[in-house]
Amino acid sequence: MIPLSLAQVARITGGQLHAEAASVVTGEVVIDSRRAGPGGLFAAVAGERSDGHDFAADAVAAGAVAALATRPVPVPSVLVADVPAALAALARHVVDALPAAQVAGITGSSGKTSTKDLAAQLTERLGPTIAPAGSFNNELGLPLTVLRADSSTRYLVLELSARGPGHIAYLCGIAPPRYGAVLNVGHAHAGEFGGLDQVARAKGELVEALPADGAAILNADDPRVAAMAARTAARVVTFGVEAPQATVRAADVRLDDLGRPSFTLLTPDGSAPVTLRLHGAHNVPNALAAAALARELGLGLADTADALSTAVARSRWRMEVHRRADGVTVINDAYNANPESVRAAVAALRHLAAGGRGFAVLGHMAELGDTSQASHEAIGEFAARAELAGLIAVGPEAEPLLAGARRVPSWTGEALAVPDAAAALDAVSNQLKPGDVVLVKASRAARLEGLAAAVLAGGDDPPGPPAHGGATRPPVPPREADR
Ligand SMILES: Nc1ncnc2c1ncn2[C@@H]1O[C@H](COP(=O)(O)OP(=O)(O)OP(=O)(O)O)[C@@H](O)[C@H]1O
Ligand SMILES: [Mg+2]
Repeated sequence: MIPLSLAQVARITGGQLHAEAASVVTGEVVIDSRRAGPGGLFAAVAGERSDGHDFAADAVAAGAVAALATRPVPVPSVLVADVPAALAALARHVVDALPAAQVAGITGSSGKTSTKDLAAQLTERLGPTIAPAGSFNNELGLPLTVLRADSSTRYLVLELSARGPGHIAYLCGIAPPRYGAVLNVGHAHAGEFGGLDQVARAKGELVEALPADGAAILNADDPRVAAMAARTAARVVTFGVEAPQATVRAADVRLDDLGRPSFTLLTPDGSAPVTLRLHGAHNVPNALAAAALARELGLGLADTADALSTAVARSRWRMEVHRRADGVTVINDAYNANPESVRAAVAALRHLAAGGRGFAVLGHMAELGDTSQASHEAIGEFAARAELAGLIAVGPEAEPLLAGARRVPSWTGEALAVPDAAAALDAVSNQLKPGDVVLVKASRAARLEGLAAAVLAGGDDPPGPPAHGGATRPPVPPREADR
């Protein structure tokens, strides 16, 4: 955070000062009073379950200088009409005050957080980097992330999400990116958008915001993303696993027994071997996007390959692979689910279970609109074609998942519909034998990560460390801004 007096905060936000004008904010700007600390600023936001205004006094007691609020609170405050807009104005002020910080934005339907975490671990080789914790990617999370920057910051690696048209353009207005990567156009939130073409329109707002001296980093394997080249003034750089013409490519992709990809990274500067610590072939395009971005920022090929090979998963519940002491492997991919990410996870399950038995515990995929039933049926069919030993469908869309699986007459696995996580735990626990692999995946709303933890704890011994080379992860952020 660059120090700002409350008088400056009031001026930048157009707010009314109800505090000492000369008090200076030097600490973090937070929306969770439990994270408030000395010198910080507490932004009071009304959530679904609670209203931040009720916690302003707690935040100030914890050291916050003042609250940013829309109605009077019993502590020093700056009163504004709209707190997210005030955060946006403050963040834009910070970006403008830090011209040495290069801003890179990452968007797409799946893989933003995974790619952002990889990209940040590359840019950290070049200089001090600010990147969000977890999925802080919306009108609250993005400005809160930007506000952590200070005069030492050289790279801001941001995740941009959209639930409708104009959202990404709005986020680009808060922190105008010079570099922008679009990963893919898929079905996440497609129901709200109205279809894939509308998703593409919205995701492409990122490249429309780039200046002529910037770079648009586009997935050459995804035709809707590749077509965004026509929508940007920036230089276009492409990445791809399939497309032979892509600027940054992967060749000889192989997965080890835990599904970790190795490949040869091909760039105009030459080639280098990479072995990811992340699980699943879908992390190869994510790594290529991160590599293409880092290349634009000046990271050399050897450093890029080395940083990709040492990068760890910084955000929880995305393809976490753990092995129980009794030899059962648990894939906790319960952060969220859409058709593309479920296919990616089931493909990884199939790989990990090769020669043994794979079980998929699948909850529902939210926000798919009119295509929801058909999408769940298609996923059930995909799971059956992956020759799983069992499909345990949990919750509201369990029936269409099983109906899809029944379309594959040759499938001999067991199909079960259960109402909730507790029933799923019973069902799967009864089945597991050493050597089996279990995937747990669902939309965020289903919160199946607890189920994955329970399956993991179901072995005779306490769960061991993640089976990905002993890397440690930071604690879960207290609140991930929703997507
Ligand atoms: N390139 C990809 N293609 C398909 N699935 C992917 C890809 N990258 C990651 N995933 C899967 O998608 C899920 C979400 O990953 P991640 O959190 O990185 O994406 P995100 O775009 O940030 O999601 P959100 O919209 O929730 O912020 C995880 O299950 C992950 O394994
Ligand atoms: Mg995310």
